[in-house]
Amino acid sequence: MISKIQELIKEVEEFSSKKMEEIDQFRIKYLSKKSGIVTDLFKEFKNVPKEEKKEFGQVLNVLKNKVQDKVEFLKVNVKDEGSTKTQLDLSLPGDTEHPGTRHPISIVRNEIIEIFTRLGFTISEGPEIEDDYHVFSALNFPEDHPARDMQDTFFIEQNPDVLLRTHTSSVQVRVMDNENPPIRTISPGRVFRNEAISARAHCIFHQIEGLYIDKNVSFADLKQTLLYFAKELFGEETKIRLRPSYFPFTEPSAEMDISCSLCGGEGCNVCKYTGWLEILGCGMVDPNVLETNNIDSEKYTGFAFGMGIERIAMLKYGIKDLRMYFENDVRFLRQF
Ligand code: DAH
Repeated sequence: MISKIQELIKEVEEFSSKKMEEIDQFRIKYLSKKSGIVTDLFKEFKNVPKEEKKEFGQVLNVLKNKVQDKVEFLKVNVKDEGSTKTQLDLSLPGDTEHPGTRHPISIVRNEIIEIFTRLGFTISEGPEIEDDYHVFSALNFPEDHPARDMQDTFFIEQNPDVLLRTHTSSVQVRVMDNENPPIRTISPGRVFRNEAISARAHCIFHQIEGLYIDKNVSFADLKQTLLYFAKELFGEETKIRLRPSYFPFTEPSAEMDISCSLCGGEGCNVCKYTGWLEILGCGMVDPNVLETNNIDSEKYTGFAFGMGIERIAMLKYGIKDLRMYFENDVRFLRQF
């Protein structure tokens, strides 16, 4: 009797099927209340000699559990198969895989970096949490300059000397601290200003700073470098225009416009019918800045420039609202 049950256990272990019908038949064969093998064997229990009862009971229970486990196990597989096989509707649209895309700010930043590395510029980075010296004092900002005002700068309350950098020009100071001329570097990074968030302003944005210091660096070098950059980024036909401006750390200073990439300079609503778009600030490094940073201004001259990546990406892609960059709406991000 017991060896018969053991054979049945083997049979159960070997049974396999992915068809619901067959699994049901298997279950009924063993467990049916009326005539299942297991049920019948339990009925036999009373006829088993006393000394075998214990072992018989144990083995029979093993058989019963094995059947139940087997049925449960096989049903799960059927469910999986069933969901794809029985519910396969060929008229449904396919599932589209959406591979991740680079953020437009990263795309444009990488493009700018690539252009300047081709010209031999290195990449340098500095901290986002800075001090007054690196963001303002060492860059020749007068003590009472409005950029130090609470309205523009995020200060740390406990220590007003600690602040979030308002521009990547602070990295210039760190580079001049650590390196000797010739220096040729660009510094991409995040900057922070205490501005109300709107379509045209944000409290966090990205800049790329450029610095070139060597013997005999002239304004003509600055102009040629920026012309090359503009043509590489916006196309061969791009023209540039430099307008006199003021920054504490450069003298002379200028703002650079490019011919409007959308209308080709004809005039449109993006360039406000001027044909020109402002894209960066630049100038010759003020000798005061060189001296403060222990560079001999008699021996060396340099130029610097700084641009906002959001603005350039807006012009390149026709993005009209700065907030789009930070909302992470995939419908926006998938377009790049
Ligand atoms: N730091 C300036 C700003 O945030 C941009 C800038 C202007 C950087 C002129 C420069 C420069 O290096 O020469 O508005």
